[in-house]
Amino acid sequence: MTAAPVRVKLAETPAEWAGAVAVRLAVFVDEQHVPLASEMDEHDRSAVHAIALVNLPTQEQATGVADLEHAPSLEPARQGTALRAAAQAGKYLPLSLSGARTSAKEAVTLAPVIGTGRLLRAAGGVARIGRIAVLPAWRGQGLGSRLLRLLEEAALARGARQVLLHAQVHALPFYRARGYLPPEPQRPFLEDNIPHLRLTKPLTPDM
Ligand SMILES: CC(C)(COP(=O)(O)OP(=O)(O)OC[C@H]1O[C@@H](n2cnc3c(N)ncnc32)[C@H](O)[C@@H]1OP(=O)(O)O)[C@@H](O)C(=O)NCCC(=O)NCCS
Repeated sequence: MTAAPVRVKLAETPAEWAGAVAVRLAVFVDEQHVPLASEMDEHDRSAVHAIALVNLPTQEQATGVADLEHAPSLEPARQGTALRAAAQAGKYLPLSLSGARTSAKEAVTLAPVIGTGRLLRAAGGVARIGRIAVLPAWRGQGLGSRLLRLLEEAALARGARQVLLHAQVHALPFYRARGYLPPEPQRPFLEDNIPHLRLTKPLTPDM
């Protein structure tokens, strides 16, 4: 089997959003034990969400149902989390998608999303990026970097000149290598019992 091509884009449909939620539940809630009540929040409704999407064969695209035999690494986001994800996705449907055409079927359909991240509205030229997650089987292939890059470009296009994020300490090498630094000496602080550091990166059109 050849590796399925992956597209990184902004979520544009409720099914893509539901797929992003499934990844967040699989990674943050199930893998990292973040409480569901902290993981999903009202910011999701005003945020821009990026997704890494597996291109499925045409028939699967039409039905929105992945052939798990040919995409086994999608399973963590689908087994057990699908119904939970659909419920959370409906509760926190982003305002930008609430006018998107949807049907009862689409509301419980999850697009084959394997990675995600979100961008919060810029205030005073500073945008917040967070919730970057890639399913375990798909890590180390550059998808986290592509998601981060797309969110930075979206932030720049929306007038931001700096990104602020709270990075899990274990992921510090990932963010450092992509231009994020602590703006001042600091000790890690706990968010949902996970040590974090505050990092910033200036945004420029030629970054
Ligand atoms: C962090 C994460 C999004 C990176 O996604 P990815 O698709 O593997 O990222 P990329 O393939 O673009 O880059 C991987 C790079 O990050 C480094 N990296 C990623 N996670 C790391 C970790 N936990 N510790 C050390 N390095 C890490 C890899 O070593 C690799 O380094 P390289 O660029 O020098 O080769 C992914 O590991 C993940 O989902 N982790 C769990 C969720 C999480 O912790 N998110 C961050 C919240 S702040």
